Amino acid sequence: MHLFSGILRETLRKQMQAKRKALSLCEQKRAAKKVLARFSESQSVKNAQSIALYLSFHGELETDSFIEYCWAQKKTVYLPVIHPLCKGHLLFLKYDSDSPLVKNQFGIFEPKLDIRFVLPTSKIDLICTPLVAFDALGQRLGMGGGYYDRTLSPLLFKHFYNEPVPRTLGLAHDCQQLPFLLETQAWDVPLCEILTPSKQWVWFD
Ligand SMILES: Nc1ncnc2c1ncn2[C@@H]1O[C@H](COP(=O)(O)OP(=O)(O)OP(=O)(O)O)[C@@H](O)[C@H]1O
Ligand SMILES: [Mg+2]
Repeated sequence: MHLFSGILRETLRKQMQAKRKALSLCEQKRAAKKVLARFSESQSVKNAQSIALYLSFHGELETDSFIEYCWAQKKTVYLPVIHPLCKGHLLFLKYDSDSPLVKNQFGIFEPKLDIRFVLPTSKIDLICTPLVAFDALGQRLGMGGGYYDRTLSPLLFKHFYNEPVPRTLGLAHDCQQLPFLLETQAWDVPLCEILTPSKQWVWFD
């Protein structure tokens, strides 16, 4: 049964990745513009001083304009970096226009690791995640590495004990919404909110 659902999960991931990748440059730009308009109106963004974004890869919703917007609003931008010691986890590093970038093992640019610029994940106000697919309950399917799940799951415990935790916000194309619920695993962390060109979804306040 596990093997069967694992195979389904991988097939779905490939199909949904292909949809995202098939978007034309023009569609990509139009989608990013619409989502940025929602992003700039979002109360979660207005309330946040430190915002983690990501550098787009493989057809993910383009974020350059989001980073520029955050800088213009005097917010502090953070980007994910693969943790050098804690396998499968992410660190978040402050990102400025002159921050040096290096390619990681997946060919994704990330800030050059420098411990002075790391902010503990729990201290970030808003973490924006890419995604491959999502369902009507805010469950997210990512690229399959489990990086965001591992990084975000300790926050669920903090939330349980009423400690302040970052809000999570998915950025997505409309075509990444699934018409059925994802079969989730114990480690999957649902998102508080998702923005697509046509809708703002909020599951947790
Ligand atoms: N908290 C966790 N603890 C242990 N293993 C985990 C955890 N989260 C994910 N994994 C492992 O990572 C693998 C990939 O997880 P999953 O399919 O949920 O990735 P994803 O959500 O698509 O990726 P990502 O979170 O990087 O976007 C799983 O097969 C699982 O073994
Ligand atoms: Mg997951």
